[in-house]
Amino acid sequence: MTFKNIFISIIIATAMIISAFLIQSARPGIEVSQPGPEYVRATGKCATCHLKETSAIVHQYSISKHASENVTCYECHRSLDGQKEIEHNGFKLATSVTALNCSQCHTTEYAQFLRSRHGAPAWAAVTGSSDFTEEQIALAEKFHPGTVKRGANKLAITEGAGVMDKGCKACHSVGKPNPDGSIGTCTACHARHTTSIALARQPETCGQCHMGPDHSQLEIYNESKHGVLYASQKAHLNLNADPKSLTTKDMPIPTCSTCHMSGLEGMNVTHDVTERLSWWLFAPISKKRPNYNLGQEAMKNTCLKCHAKTHVEKFYKEAEEVVFATNDKVQNALNIVSELREEGLLTPEPFDEPIEFIAFDLWHYFGRTAKHGAFMGGADFVQWHGNYELLLKTIEMEEIAKSLRSEAHSEK
Ligand code: HEC
Ligand code: HEC
Ligand code: HEC
Ligand code: HEC
Ligand code: HEC
Ligand code: HEC
Ligand code: HEC
Ligand code: HEC
Repeated sequence: MTFKNIFISIIIATAMIISAFLIQSARPGIEVSQPGPEYVRATGKCATCHLKETSAIVHQYSISKHASENVTCYECHRSLDGQKEIEHNGFKLATSVTALNCSQCHTTEYAQFLRSRHGAPAWAAVTGSSDFTEEQIALAEKFHPGTVKRGANKLAITEGAGVMDKGCKACHSVGKPNPDGSIGTCTACHARHTTSIALARQPETCGQCHMGPDHSQLEIYNESKHGVLYASQKAHLNLNADPKSLTTKDMPIPTCSTCHMSGLEGMNVTHDVTERLSWWLFAPISKKRPNYNLGQEAMKNTCLKCHAKTHVEKFYKEAEEVVFATNDKVQNALNIVSELREEGLLTPEPFDEPIEFIAFDLWHYFGRTAKHGAFMGGADFVQWHGNYELLLKTIEMEEIAKSLRSEAHSEK
């Protein structure tokens, strides 16, 4: 570019900026003090300013479906009934954008989410019922009896508030009640500004919380044939496909969301991740859920979009055998603790004696992992991280029980 061209460009740019200021100052004040969505849409008001302030947010928003469908910044951020508001450059914004703001336009997803264990039960698992209103407790208890009407978790209390905030609550906040009366967060899976479906369909997204020795779903998935195929053929999947018409051509390989949420080949999309389950696998001793038949049928219908019936029936039969075998071993080990307690050789408090920690690891790590491995294709988790450890830990517990009894005997 020559000097003359640069000079002319600067003149033109300056003239444009000045005229923009003139046009802006000539606007009637009412437009700025009582703006509505149409005004924001026409002017791009939030975005132009925020390109200078937090530009990444505007770029993230610009690749979202909301941007292409003309849903503005303001429509998510404006304050609704019951929300605390702040004045922000002529706009009344909510101090915090919650599930309430999303539910204005996505009532179905919010209603499904509310009846899942991602709703109130997730938060109550850590802090108990104290943060919920009577109506919220009643609604959640209708779908999951005993999951919200309960006390705060003993282990969480023992570890202390600071750890609870950055640990337990970071994952369990998916169902945290908000000050505006709504429950939970939609952005745990979709993110705030890209509100992406592709992101929610990726196993890593669920794996932010569904990982580690007590719920190794991500590790199990990565080991399974499904996970290995996903890793190598991800580029062939259409992760952005419209949920209402998702086919096996878009997703020939399942991820977490395909099995637990997607509306594959005409099935219903659901935000109730409980809907397709038949066992309480996370429990020390797993029992059938009240909707065992319906839940199992719904999940099997998903498998059947890609597998033959004989294959799926055999898979479930073998997985249930693992549940029975694991239940027996865990019950046997938990009996050791309850007998010691009856004999007065342990205090009534949990988590103050070594054998209680071993018993907890036994069902919470190894028992759960074995059962999850069996249902999601993780052979190593059924075996070496599962049933093998159950045997080892039981022997350790029997040794401790023996020495507690002989100590008590010699003290007499
Ligand atoms: C005149 C410029 C301007 C306009 C117009 C504007 N903002 Fe802002 N906004 C800012 C600045 C500056 C900040 C502070 C950024 C920082 O803290 O780094 C901010 C902060 C924010 C925050 C964070 C508030 C907090 O403290 O947590 C939100 C949310 C926000 N803006 C949303 C919006 C929305 C939605 C609109 C349109 C309805 C909008 N803004 C219009 C300049 C603007
Ligand atoms: C789909 C709804 C939605 C839309 C559309 C949206 N936001 Fe947000 N925004 C959120 C949510 C949710 C949060 C995080 C919750 C909170 O802290 O209130 C957030 C947070 C923010 C923050 C604070 C972020 C931080 O990390 O400090 C800013 C600034 C912001 N938004 C600006 C914008 C701007 C500018 C636009 C338009 C270009 C926009 N938002 C569009 C939902 C939305
Ligand atoms: C003012 C209405 C409105 C609000 C508020 C709103 N959305 Fe949306 N949302 C839409 C529309 C319209 C679409 C596009 C139509 C469709 O796909 O159903 C959409 C689409 C979506 C999609 C599908 C995206 C895709 O790629 O197909 C997701 C996910 C989503 N919204 C999540 C959210 C979340 C999370 C919030 C709150 C943080 C939110 N929405 C707030 C109107 C809204
Ligand atoms: C890495 C994320 C993460 C952290 C940290 C975490 N959890 Fe969880 N928790 C989960 C997930 C995911 C499940 C679901 C497991 C399943 O169904 O297989 C779960 C399940 C549970 C359950 C069983 C379900 C129920 O409602 O009874 C309880 C109780 C629980 N967690 C309490 C806690 C406590 C207390 C802490 C902190 C001491 C904690 N969690 C830390 C993610 C986490
Ligand atoms: C546990 C993760 C998770 C949470 C939490 C979550 N979503 Fe989703 N959402 C998904 C997945 C996965 C899909 C895509 C399902 C599929 O594969 O078709 C989706 C799809 C959607 C769609 C498109 C549905 C359609 O039929 O076109 C909307 C809209 C949406 N979510 C809104 C929300 C809202 C609102 C919330 C909060 C109430 C929310 N989501 C919470 C994972 C989640
Ligand atoms: C922010 C953390 C978080 C994310 C992200 C998350 N979950 Fe969860 N999920 C949890 C917690 C916590 C629980 C256990 C709630 C309880 O019962 O206490 C849970 C429970 C579940 C359950 C068991 C429900 C039941 O009835 O027992 C399923 C299935 C599930 N999640 C699937 C998913 C899928 C699929 C995704 C990704 C699309 C996902 N989750 C993303 C935290 C998360
Ligand atoms: C091929 C389908 C499939 C895939 C992929 C899959 N799951 Fe599962 N999942 C299942 C089946 C089947 C069960 C057991 C269902 C039952 O109870 O009948 C299950 C159980 C669960 C549970 C146990 C709930 C409880 O009772 O403890 C959670 C949580 C879960 N899956 C999360 C995930 C996450 C997270 C991913 C991805 C990392 C994933 N799943 C991938 C099919 C799948
Ligand atoms: C979207 C399609 C899809 C869904 C849904 C699906 N799978 Fe698969 N599955 C596959 C593909 C593809 C393979 C790899 C087959 C190969 O080796 O070519 C596979 C492999 C397997 C394997 C290992 C190979 C074998 O035959 O032993 C098992 C077991 C399995 N799936 C069980 C299930 C079960 C159970 C469900 C439902 C809970 C399920 N799958 C859901 C696509 C799917």
